[in-house]
Amino acid sequence: MKKIITLLAAFILVLAGCGSSADGTSSQKITIAFNQSESHPQYIALSEFAEKFEEQTEGRYEIDIQANEILGSQKETLEMVQGGTLEMTLVSTSLLENFDDSYVALSLPYVYDSLDHQRTVFSSDAFDELFAKTSTEVGVTPVAAYTAGARNVYTKSPMESAADLSGKKIRVMESQAKVDMMNAMGGVGTPMSQGEVYTAIQQGIIDGGENNEVTFADLKHYEVAPNYYYTEHLMVPDVVVVSNTFFDTMSDSDKEIFNALIEESVTREFELWIEGVEAAKTTATEGGAKFNEIDKTAFQEACFELNEKTLATSEDMTKIYNQIRDLA
Ligand code: GCU
Repeated sequence: MKKIITLLAAFILVLAGCGSSADGTSSQKITIAFNQSESHPQYIALSEFAEKFEEQTEGRYEIDIQANEILGSQKETLEMVQGGTLEMTLVSTSLLENFDDSYVALSLPYVYDSLDHQRTVFSSDAFDELFAKTSTEVGVTPVAAYTAGARNVYTKSPMESAADLSGKKIRVMESQAKVDMMNAMGGVGTPMSQGEVYTAIQQGIIDGGENNEVTFADLKHYEVAPNYYYTEHLMVPDVVVVSNTFFDTMSDSDKEIFNALIEESVTREFELWIEGVEAAKTTATEGGAKFNEIDKTAFQEACFELNEKTLATSEDMTKIYNQIRDLA
């Protein structure tokens, strides 16, 4: 009898794992990897998308978002999506630069004038051609670009002016273009994954980082580097990417629902972002952070010079750069 009950329990668990749709067939599980917390605006936008998608596809899919870098760094989860062992992830476009250097144009220093400019670009067809090329050549399909606001430098010890960045080791994303940018700004660009930054600052391996207010607060970086300076040097888009192995199994009508909802989530994420920045500043200030203005002219001049050199290396990059600037 005990054996029968155990078998029954196992059977029920298996059934629960599969889930079932309105017509009784089992639902397909979609796991999305995310490298920050459940209160992050991008997590909220993705959850709202997931809820609507599950509802509109009547239980044919079940979405599970795994936050807090539990499934690995962005670099690792991107590889899993490419290999077809994970359905979706959200990564910075900086990581896609390793596949196609045209992505460098999407986050050149000071390429966007404002959040409004970025929203106009993300809602246009400026990235369509590049995303389609990535889908064919890399095997992952970028389906939407989300904002991650403007990035600013923060340091353990305070700075008086731009000159004080000189020689400071500042963590940047794992991208050669970002290393070059930080070096041009006067610092020493030190690439590493997001999850390592807190400890690296704490242990004195680096002197600070550069990120938006939301991540600065979300990952409690203000505890180890409380001096935040509005350098506003970068606005790096994050992209939601889907594995082609999974996407190819989706019917055309489900894909249509998917695409319409993910597009809708782009505008929603911008709204959530604005709220998120305010909340993050309050949290960080309460935790001892100091938000400072800094004269950024020297940084801009150094970056514009670097941008010119970078753009001269590729016509494809220049084409996208011009498309972004034309929408300013
Ligand atoms: C931002 C961005 C993330 C990225 C992170 C980083 O938070 O939204 O996608 O991982 O910066 O600096 O690594």
